Amino acid sequence: MCGIVGYIGGKNAQDFLISGLKRLEYRGYDSAGIVTLSEDGSATLLRAKGKISNLEEKLAKNKRDDKVGIGHTRWATHGEPSEKNAHPHQAGEIYLVHNGIIENYKELKQQLKEHEFKSETDSEVLAALINSFYKDGKHPLINAVVQALKLAKGTYGIAVVSKLSPDEIVVARSGSPLVIGVGHGETMIASDASALLGHTKQAIYLNDGEVAMIKKDSVEIKTLNAEPVSAKVEEIETNLSAIQKGGYDHFLLKEIMEQPDSLTETLRGRVNIEDGTVRLGGPGLSEGQLRKIKHLIIVGCGTAYHAGLLASYYIEKFTPEITVEPVIASEYRYRQSYIPEDSVALIVSQSGETADTLACLREIKKQGVTTIGIVNAIGSTIAREVDGGTYVHVGPEISVASTKAFTSQVIAMVMFGLTIAQAKGVRSSILKPYVNEIYNLPKMIHETLESVQDAIKNIANKYANYEHGIYLGRDTAYPTAMEGALKLKEISYVDANAYAFGELKHGPLALIDDRFFELALLPKGELYDKAVSNVQEVLARGGHVIAVTNEEKFDLPVDDIIRLNTGDIFAPILMNLVSQLFAYYVTVAKGYDVDQPRNLAKSVTVE
Ligand code: M6R
Repeated sequence: MCGIVGYIGGKNAQDFLISGLKRLEYRGYDSAGIVTLSEDGSATLLRAKGKISNLEEKLAKNKRDDKVGIGHTRWATHGEPSEKNAHPHQAGEIYLVHNGIIENYKELKQQLKEHEFKSETDSEVLAALINSFYKDGKHPLINAVVQALKLAKGTYGIAVVSKLSPDEIVVARSGSPLVIGVGHGETMIASDASALLGHTKQAIYLNDGEVAMIKKDSVEIKTLNAEPVSAKVEEIETNLSAIQKGGYDHFLLKEIMEQPDSLTETLRGRVNIEDGTVRLGGPGLSEGQLRKIKHLIIVGCGTAYHAGLLASYYIEKFTPEITVEPVIASEYRYRQSYIPEDSVALIVSQSGETADTLACLREIKKQGVTTIGIVNAIGSTIAREVDGGTYVHVGPEISVASTKAFTSQVIAMVMFGLTIAQAKGVRSSILKPYVNEIYNLPKMIHETLESVQDAIKNIANKYANYEHGIYLGRDTAYPTAMEGALKLKEISYVDANAYAFGELKHGPLALIDDRFFELALLPKGELYDKAVSNVQEVLARGGHVIAVTNEEKFDLPVDDIIRLNTGDIFAPILMNLVSQLFAYYVTVAKGYDVDQPRNLAKSVTVE
């Protein structure tokens, strides 16, 4: 949430900041701003409401050749999206960009009588607080930042510059990510390494409680208690092509279509098809530890929660003597839940930075429970704080709606379940069908995408003007229905809700009329006939049903049908591809911004 960039070196800072902000725009896009400093101490501050393109229009009339600056793209928390609330915020000679929330900003504001506040933001309070200690350059900037941060409560990733010392940027973090890119005669900062690609592959990931003074050829890090920290330089693994659209109209479509490859990356080196087993190195649990597990908690938000819910259905099917408890992070962090002995917690997050998920991780760790990350973003906070973990390796997911991460999160968790089952001695005749289908899943995803894309586009055009969607499924198709409904509502703004088929007659059936369509997920299997009866009940009440099934014998007179020619155990994963494409094409038909839906941001780093 909110993107930060900064540059100090020999190149044009404005150019770097704008291109960096464009790469971070997925983190927030209601306003943006940059400030650059010239050697003689003058500052050029440009801010604009809306997308970065609006800021670029201002930039065209205010080009400077400054070599140092900071920038920000905002997702509003305090104060509406507007130019005055956009960052950077100025106080005296300093400028600040901030990602996070200063919780005690009201108290602090009371004490800052000398500053004339121009915005409604908590961030300007932090800028004014730093300035109150800076005393117009009479103290080093870094000392003023440290003094202020010792009083601030909440979360932050910040970058601060001063007109009085235009050869340095001071950065700090607590709860919001910050990466320092080390180049030759230039140093950069960003909230996400993707903004650094093409400039450097060398990165230092700042830890919570650390502050750094950055110059063009040096980085000095210390803790807020003034203990020096030796910087660990790491290689950025992502490539530039991974963050480009690659010929697609939208990142979302690219990310949907690359799932055969992204899942292949998740599986790489982890499936042994000859002996029908899986092996995950990252969790670091011995056979004995795996055997002891009696309870699995799966923590996530949004799509990551749905992935956990779906995985829980699978894991329970093949692992004896184990209970699986998928939980919503924002709820679980405040519940007084009893965690039984021999529990392990899976912490699921694409970004690895989601505030609620991170807070749960910390709470769970305090109780001495082993935590295992199911994370995509390498080096992210969650990935670094868990006891062990499995990266899903799907590459950057840029579109705000999560797609390829979901598929790989489910399978990574199922594989973790399989390692428990293997250790507990579950018969290979039970586990092998899962392993075989996991192994073949990338191919099945490829075939499904190829075969259904055009049909879904046509159906989506037909339903684009419906006001409401009901997604229906049971067993493993129920979490899949929930994920499908989330996808549709978040990008097309169509009101969509999911119900377990069995729940229909307990209330939702009353909704059915011409404003609604019903998307019914009907995988083959034990509960297929029951689900079909439920579809009949919907049809009998004039419902507009789109059926998605891999059962050849399906012959109800529904409005539309999407037949899948493949898939057995993991058919719901394939059905989810249908929901992803359906949401995409409905949104395109409506002409909305597919990759950056209103009010949202990709990485939710505030509570
Ligand atoms: O980065 P995370 O996986 O922790 O994010 C969790 C949710 O914010 C995320 O899945 C969100 O629900 C997506 N926008 C859904 O498409």
